[in-house]
Amino acid sequence: MEKTVNILGFAGSLRKGSYNKALLRAALELVPKGAKLEIFDLEGIPPFNQDLENQPPQKVKEFKAKISAADAILIGTPEANYTLPGVLTNAMNWASRPYGDNAFDGKPVAVMGATIGTLGTARAQYHLRQSFVFLNMIAVNQPEVMISLAQEKIDKDGKVTDQKTREKIGELAQNLVAWTKRLKGA
Ligand SMILES: Cc1cc2nc3c(=O)[nH]c(=O)nc-3n(C[C@H](O)[C@H](O)[C@H](O)COP(=O)(O)O)c2cc1C
Repeated sequence: MEKTVNILGFAGSLRKGSYNKALLRAALELVPKGAKLEIFDLEGIPPFNQDLENQPPQKVKEFKAKISAADAILIGTPEANYTLPGVLTNAMNWASRPYGDNAFDGKPVAVMGATIGTLGTARAQYHLRQSFVFLNMIAVNQPEVMISLAQEKIDKDGKVTDQKTREKIGELAQNLVAWTKRLKGA
């Protein structure tokens, strides 16, 4: 029997009504058979302090342990002032430290993002992809899930109602799982 592909997902937003959290919740329903997605909430991760990187706060320890245990990573990112939201950068900084103990090392990763604007978080996603180079993460290139005008595609209860958006999320999850298996030689 094939081993389950365990995916850890997190969103770069702490907002209860976050559209990016909604994308991840939709992905819970759309991951292919043989894969499991767990969502980690970044709430409670304090601002990075390098003095503490060798004894990080409990929430950071949990985050790093979940990343290490996962076969693949799925990120839902908003865009803030044309780049990554601080919440996401901050959490990823913690998880990549101390030097030599980068929890993301070698992990396959897929990105999606939603914004109320019109460019679908494209700028933030390309900045994130730049970080993947240093983090040594192996990114899925396609499809690019860049959701603009999210308020028209996600309802008041945080459900992704737009069919095209759901299809893209499903396709991305499938490609992430296929990519992960390929890298593992499975
Ligand atoms: C400080 C701040 C900066 C923002 N900058 C951008 C931006 O550069 N591009 C964009 O498309 N939307 C921007 N927005 C709007 C976000 O897309 C919108 O707030 C979105 O809902 C945030 O994601 P969330 O729903 O997952 O919390 C910004 C919002 C805030 C609060």
